[in-house]
Amino acid sequence: MPLNRIVVWEAFDAADPMTRAAARLYEETLAAEERIPWYWIEKSVEGRTKARPGRTAGWTKHLLLAAPEDRADDPDALAGYAYGALIPGYGGYLCYIGVADRARRMGVGTRLFDQFFRQLAVDAGETGSPLPFVIWESHRPGPGATPAEWDLWAARTKLFDRAGGLWVEGVDFLSPNFTADDEEADPVALQLFLKPLGEPAGAFDPDRLRQVVGGLHREVYRYGPGDPLFDRTLPPDGVPRLRPAKLAGVTRPAAAV
Ligand SMILES: CC(C)(COP(=O)(O)OP(=O)(O)OC[C@H]1O[C@@H](n2cnc3c(N)ncnc32)[C@H](O)[C@@H]1OP(=O)(O)O)[C@@H](O)C(=O)NCCC(=O)NCCS
Repeated sequence: MPLNRIVVWEAFDAADPMTRAAARLYEETLAAEERIPWYWIEKSVEGRTKARPGRTAGWTKHLLLAAPEDRADDPDALAGYAYGALIPGYGGYLCYIGVADRARRMGVGTRLFDQFFRQLAVDAGETGSPLPFVIWESHRPGPGATPAEWDLWAARTKLFDRAGGLWVEGVDFLSPNFTADDEEADPVALQLFLKPLGEPAGAFDPDRLRQVVGGLHREVYRYGPGDPLFDRTLPPDGVPRLRPAKLAGVTRPAAAV
């Protein structure tokens, strides 16, 4: 189905039918272990109209919605969403992005990334702070993954590449497994992608990348040196480096082709 021009806007009303449609799309497009409960996102949508730059030390969170220009009020036409935040003193963090099946491969994901970067540049401008980068995580299929899971990984890495994201090679970012009942459950290993904004890509040398990766643990998961997941993510001999996002997909095993 050809889409008319796509418009992207920020949700300010959790009860709006378009925001509710985003909740459904969120649950359809992401596996349970990849997402936080929707009501956390709803709460941040509700808090947006009261937010004032610099007044709180917290994150400035945004839920962006996308739809064809002539159907921006039609919940059945919601094309996609993106959710993320500016983390003061750190950078941008894109938490989630998803596009409806019927609207895929038409540039909607690229458009959402682009608007998210612009939105965070505005946030940073409000407090006169730099926006050195935007970072995001994604779960690469593991051994035994299905061809469909590898296809989704290919779609993700192509989108990340199109959005100007670079893969942080050499880091398996170990995050807690929130869906497991057992506190000792294996952590989830994520790949990281970074879009340089206020700093050139060349500035992200291994030392700077270690700082960025450690900062993600500190800001998002509240871990620091001495915590097992932090230490295992950043072993002393690890040398992270930025590589084209497409290269993050090369480990697809022959059996899954
Ligand atoms: C990943 C996802 C967001 C892509 O959204 P999209 O709107 O289809 O992406 P775009 O149309 O902007 O495409 C961006 C690039 O990726 C390519 N691409 C998208 N889907 C693809 C697929 N299934 N296979 C191969 N390439 C694909 C496009 O061709 C385009 O590359 P090009 O510009 O070189 O042609 C979408 O597939 C999705 O919602 N998946 C489920 C949720 C998810 O995985 N979210 C990401 C979590 S980290």
